Amino acid sequence: MTPLSYGNVHFAIETKDGVHIGSIGLHVAVPEDRKARLGITIGDKAYWSRGYGTDAMLTLLRFAFDEMNLHRIDLTVDEDNARARACYRTCGMVEEVRLRQERYADGAYRDQLVMAILRDEFYALHGKAAT
Ligand SMILES: CC(C)(COP(=O)(O)OP(=O)(O)OC[C@H]1O[C@@H](n2cnc3c(N)ncnc32)[C@H](O)[C@@H]1OP(=O)(O)O)[C@@H](O)C(=O)NCCC(=O)NCCS
Repeated sequence: MTPLSYGNVHFAIETKDGVHIGSIGLHVAVPEDRKARLGITIGDKAYWSRGYGTDAMLTLLRFAFDEMNLHRIDLTVDEDNARARACYRTCGMVEEVRLRQERYADGAYRDQLVMAILRDEFYALHGKAAT
């Protein structure tokens, strides 16, 4: 496993009862550009659509902007992943680019979307950090 570092940040997603249901992290962080790419997975379908993804995303975005001093966070998502897209939109991410036939899965090429949020946009939606 790649060691944790500025460019490789990983957290477990747990319920309040301590059940480990997924993971979230940042990779390919570029300090010069103050940007990074986000990845998230909740493995157990029983925990989907219960708000855990949005809560984890908002927590990590807050950490990225307040603590890591990043300026931009993006990710890629399959166009047909409506749940993920809704979750990211709730967090304030906007769809920027369509990557045509970017991924091959289940016998077909799929378009992916690049979604992103800038620090000022996050603060406008969710407030600045308490000082
Ligand atoms: C994507 C993922 C992280 C989202 O986390 P989650 O806890 O399920 O998401 P949330 O409950 O916070 O939010 C889901 C949103 O999708 C909406 N939603 C659920 N099912 C939907 C569907 N079939 N179509 C459209 N929207 C849907 C919910 O209403 C909610 O929107 P809202 O915030 O406007 O109410 C999680 O589902 C997951 O890990 N899925 C499998 C792996 C995956 O897709 N990873 C992402 C790869 S980019």
